Amino acid sequence: MRRRSLLAVFFFVVLLPACSWQSTHTPPPALHDAAIATAHPLATQAGVQILQQGGNAFDAAVAVTAVLAVVEPYSSGLGGGGFWLLHKARDNTQVMIDGREKAPLAAHRDMYLDADGEVIPRASVDGPLSAGIPGVPAAMAHLARHYGRLPLKQSLQPAITLARNGFAVDEHYRRMAQFRQSVLQNWEDGEAIFLQDGEVPDVGYIIRQPDLANTLEQIANQGADGFYKGEIAGKLVRSVRENGGIWTLQDLAQYSIVERLPLQFSYNGMRVTSVTPPSSGGVALAQIFNMLALGNYDKLNAVDKKHLLIEAMRRAYRDRAEYLGDSDVVDVPVIELASMAHARQLLANLDMQRATPSADLPPVAVDKLDGPDTTHFSIVDKQGNRVAATLSINYPFGSCFVAEGTGVLLNDEMDDFSSKPGSPNVYGLVGAEANAIAPGKRMLSSMSPSFAEYNNRIAVLGTPGGSRIITMVLLGLLQFYDGADATTIVNAPRMHHQYLPDKVFYEPGALPPERIAALQQKGHVLQQLDSTYGNMQVVVMDRNTGRLNAASDKRGVGSAQVLTVE
Ligand code: GLY
Repeated sequence: MRRRSLLAVFFFVVLLPACSWQSTHTPPPALHDAAIATAHPLATQAGVQILQQGGNAFDAAVAVTAVLAVVEPYSSGLGGGGFWLLHKARDNTQVMIDGREKAPLAAHRDMYLDADGEVIPRASVDGPLSAGIPGVPAAMAHLARHYGRLPLKQSLQPAITLARNGFAVDEHYRRMAQFRQSVLQNWEDGEAIFLQDGEVPDVGYIIRQPDLANTLEQIANQGADGFYKGEIAGKLVRSVRENGGIWTLQDLAQYSIVERLPLQFSYNGMRVTSVTPPSSGGVALAQIFNMLALGNYDKLNAVDKKHLLIEAMRRAYRDRAEYLGDSDVVDVPVIELASMAHARQLLANLDMQRATPSADLPPVAVDKLDGPDTTHFSIVDKQGNRVAATLSINYPFGSCFVAEGTGVLLNDEMDDFSSKPGSPNVYGLVGAEANAIAPGKRMLSSMSPSFAEYNNRIAVLGTPGGSRIITMVLLGLLQFYDGADATTIVNAPRMHHQYLPDKVFYEPGALPPERIAALQQKGHVLQQLDSTYGNMQVVVMDRNTGRLNAASDKRGVGSAQVLTVE
């Protein structure tokens, strides 16, 4: 667990002979088409519009990010953060834009504990004390300036128009608003914007956000400074502090995104590019795929495949709880964790006949996992540039607090830290230290925007879903590996294990009764969920033909479009 390994930004976990990398270096064919899949039709439309105006995938990503901030306020926003994974066709390179929120400088390890050391209920979830310093405005400005072709002002225009003119409430909005109604009612601005006379708005009710339109205009005119300095910054800090938060002007002025080289690994010839810490996604995916490779997953029967998947998920999530955090602040042994040698150790006690109880693994405290509401979009342009972006404000409607006069709904991403690190668990062991709160630190995430390349096809994918994001992306990657198209990938049934609780959760209908019985016989505890989960957005490119297909998860209200761009 050496510091040196953390400073290296390029992690390459090679599982295969060098010849299998060949396709990666073949330039993609000229594409006639571009494709976009997002969680909201208005965001897809904005991305299409920007591509048709001569923008590239990165300009479209700015437009989509900003429109999602307006029309999906329950999932992401200017007051939130995220990860944008980019592939630049020109030089065939990838980079990760880390726009994750940071803890305010006045934050401290025990800030959500009472005098007795107990976690104060809801303190890290509701209101401005739960908000990290946002990264979305800085990331949009960075994308436009360093990767886009169009002025930021042009890419933000669809969002400004939608914020000013409004968008219509749908059933999904209503469900999200209902979930957070009582908290939205706590603060005037949020209640006035997102509810209708204090109630969940009717379908068709128009949500107008003139203050947010003004804030977007400040960013359009001044870049990131329009948010992090000057008038908007002053309003944000004043409002946060008047309502019990701890932000300062220095927090905003000091915020910066980080460009990181992504984590890359291979599974039987499929090359996967995903995110590094402060997301746990890439590391956990690499670990799970390593274990599948060692267990000869491809050759197993259907029941044993599920058994090995569950056992690999269990072990990767245990490691996540122990080792993962912000690698700029704590030592995260990324290379060791993602190595085949480590996977071998993890599988040392694997029994293909019996489930390994999580209690039999070296114990580690898990206090909670990432909040559930987030969004994802995938874009490929006709040059072959790609964006996979997963963005979040954590809980639906984040903290439910809108800073007065800004229209900016703040995240409650501070809840993604461990509120009570170092407290011994029932076994007397201390866990979750790596993800303890510290000033200026980024909280651990599960967001896993990813690319995959296999058999001359490329996938761009990701999904929201809190702690289940990683296993959804895993299942999506396995579908892609099997040759599935975008629609099959997004709609495939889902199951999940996260070490604790020691249960396999599955969507209604995801497992046939005979498979459930066979897994139970091996000692697994299975629980069918009341509803489906996730909202995956995928674009798949066939490098032989240059053709694209795109799909938006049937579980959500999003849309996907393949378009011909002149
Ligand atoms: N808040 C969700 C995540 O970062 O994974």
